[in-house]
Amino acid sequence: MAEEKKKRDGFGSKLGIIAAAAGSAIGLGNIYRFPCEVGNNGGAAFLLVYLVVVLFLGIPVMLSELVIGRRTQSNSVGAFKKLAPKSAWPIVGYMGVLCGFLIFAFYSTVSGWTLEYIVKSVSNSFQGKDLATIEQEFTAFHDMGWRNVMWQGIFIFLTGFVVFKGVQNGIEKYAKILMPLLLVILIVLGVRSMTLPGAKEGLAFLFKPDFSKITGKVLISALGQGFFSLSLGMGVLITYGSYVKKSDNLTSTAFSVVLADTAIALLAGLVIFPAAFSFGVKPEAGMGLVFNTLPMLFNQMAGGYWFCLIFFVLLAIAALTSTISLLEVLVAYLSEELHMKRQWATVVACAGTMLLGAFASLSLMSNTPFTIGGRSMFDLMDFVSSNILLPVGGVLIVIFVGWKLGKQKFFDEVTNENIIKAKLKKIIFFIVKYLAPVAIAIVFISGLIK
Ligand code: PFF
Repeated sequence: MAEEKKKRDGFGSKLGIIAAAAGSAIGLGNIYRFPCEVGNNGGAAFLLVYLVVVLFLGIPVMLSELVIGRRTQSNSVGAFKKLAPKSAWPIVGYMGVLCGFLIFAFYSTVSGWTLEYIVKSVSNSFQGKDLATIEQEFTAFHDMGWRNVMWQGIFIFLTGFVVFKGVQNGIEKYAKILMPLLLVILIVLGVRSMTLPGAKEGLAFLFKPDFSKITGKVLISALGQGFFSLSLGMGVLITYGSYVKKSDNLTSTAFSVVLADTAIALLAGLVIFPAAFSFGVKPEAGMGLVFNTLPMLFNQMAGGYWFCLIFFVLLAIAALTSTISLLEVLVAYLSEELHMKRQWATVVACAGTMLLGAFASLSLMSNTPFTIGGRSMFDLMDFVSSNILLPVGGVLIVIFVGWKLGKQKFFDEVTNENIIKAKLKKIIFFIVKYLAPVAIAIVFISGLIK
């Protein structure tokens, strides 16, 4: 068989795939983007929709991707070519590659900031400063466009370095070690944040929904955030699924990853909002919500210097395990479909991302020329990829699995050819075939009309 000609790299253990998929899911999306979206979309109402999206759509879409990947042992384009030769389906794979490229380009901007903030932490640069000063310094940093580009370049290089070394030596090893530590530190920060004066208001913002705030925009933002946070809709989990052993349980993998990712996002909310309300940072402050509130929080903590440093190091690592998965989609495509050597594919993908990514970084300067229709290129790349390409990719993936791949093959894959039970397979397949396509389509269209 074709796939046996060339031995593919793969994950070494069950924990490896969960760690790698969770590593991809958990990242800046949880700690930086999630609070921004909650803040901009009315707080608790958004959170509620988000949780519904993640549970009812996230798990089925994730499982669908893993099924496609493991069944075909291919990258996201090759997978559709194998399962539906001579059809238009591979377009879904190409869309995923394009989307991965776009996300990597702007995601690496914020990833680069984590490096700047590590340096700031080491030099104790937040100590004793008030909110206004910390905010000013954040804006001043954006205005140093080339410094942003430099950090972004370093981050892309680091990502390339790990991917260069291949799946098992690189991704798996790095992903397994440090994510649990992130959880622990978020819990400590959450406790401090929730015991600040005025923290209650932040909790109310996060948990007391005002249903009148649920609009088309809120729905589509929650859908986009759900897909972004779980790394769905663009083939990351097809690609990772292709490295999973035939004996692993795909359903429990999907559940574990969704649970871990959601827990981290909620915790991030519990760290950010009580503190933000306590310090007077507006919930709509966007990027500043995280990058200004947190240094203020560290200033209020015993041992704040160390918490600050460890936090930004872990955040950088969380970002890295996500950028690794983005780059992996590009590299798997370039090396398997265009037959580039893996190492060359890595260099080419990194160089391309650097070029496009520089525009994202430079578009955040105050007097930037890089805007389109009044929107910074950074925002535009984020919007187009998360709120358009990911949901469209997601809907096509579930339609593919529900209607083209079909029930029997789906069941074969989730039960490991009848070896394990996968009790929820029927209900999940029902969601994949009927509910998910309709729900995603409705949300998507309602958001567009708005
Ligand atoms: N899920 C990542 C995060 O939440 O930070 C970002 C991401 C990675 C999105 C990979 C999409 C993706 F394919």
